Amino acid sequence: MKLIKKIAVLTSGGDAPGMNNALRAIVKNANNNNIEVFFIYEGYKGIIQRNIKNAKEVDVDKYIAKGGTFIYSARYPEFKKPEVRLEAKIILEELEIDALVVIGGDGSYMGAQLLHEIGVPTIALPGTIDNDIASSDFTIGYDTALNTIVNAVDALRDTSSSHNRFLMIEVMGHGAGDLALYSGLATGAEIIVTNEAQKTIPEIIEIVKEQMLVKKKRSVIAIVSEMIYADIKAIAREVESKTGIISRAMALEHVQRGGVPTAQERVLASLMGLKAVELLVEGKSGLALGSISNKIVGTPILEALKMRGKSNKEKTEQFNKLNQA
Ligand code: F6P
Repeated sequence: MKLIKKIAVLTSGGDAPGMNNALRAIVKNANNNNIEVFFIYEGYKGIIQRNIKNAKEVDVDKYIAKGGTFIYSARYPEFKKPEVRLEAKIILEELEIDALVVIGGDGSYMGAQLLHEIGVPTIALPGTIDNDIASSDFTIGYDTALNTIVNAVDALRDTSSSHNRFLMIEVMGHGAGDLALYSGLATGAEIIVTNEAQKTIPEIIEIVKEQMLVKKKRSVIAIVSEMIYADIKAIAREVESKTGIISRAMALEHVQRGGVPTAQERVLASLMGLKAVELLVEGKSGLALGSISNKIVGTPILEALKMRGKSNKEKTEQFNKLNQA
């Protein structure tokens, strides 16, 4: 087994609160094991651009309560090309970097897997607000994003109730419904729409009428996952014209990705960062870390990418019943 002396770490894809905590834990545990850490700036692109710095130059404790990623992130589709990955491998070898830790979503996982296949030892950590990596109960960033959404929806409820309005709020998730579903549950949203549990416009109108005209509720909130409706503002206009209830629509957009990581996030990310170094020291590679039933475990990245997420359909129906009662 090769002794690991130098490792590099990068964050890739959409940034997620908690990434900084994972970076900090990687540096601390590497120090414990006499391993030198290098930060690669702006994801995979940073390898090719040789945008790499020794972690000694950075005070990682400074970022413990900061969202985003202090080593920056990027989407880098060029990394799909085998020749670009080969170049990355050569650069890492030139720098005598023995292993790589990648923090990102499923696209980043694919890059990590392909590097592993050409002989670069890699460990991947799930960093995305979407919670769409099935090999982990929770991804780094999800809890903070969920809380950010809940705070926003609570505030939007205040104004919607004051004005007797219907409000449609679109949240992120990139096809996965956890952010919509659980924020909907936590805020008592009367309507929750995800890919798995879609609603037609007439169905939405029926719920708005029932809740506001029959049950005399002061407001109705619909939380919908992104990428389902082409034009939420047009839906709000249609609801208004068919019910007479003033209706608005808005997408929360990137505010969901920023902000101070929650305590739970910091703990999860830190435990994953610690484990990543532990596994590299043991000579492991090609593993995706996940929190499963409160334990940090490694699953082969390839398997992680093939795993299907759990179905939320039944839960959505239960929550709809609860929130529409
Ligand atoms: O994967 C994280 C995510 O925030 C998704 O929820 C969203 O669809 C996407 O990234 C947005 O990407 P960008 O910031 O590149 O617009």
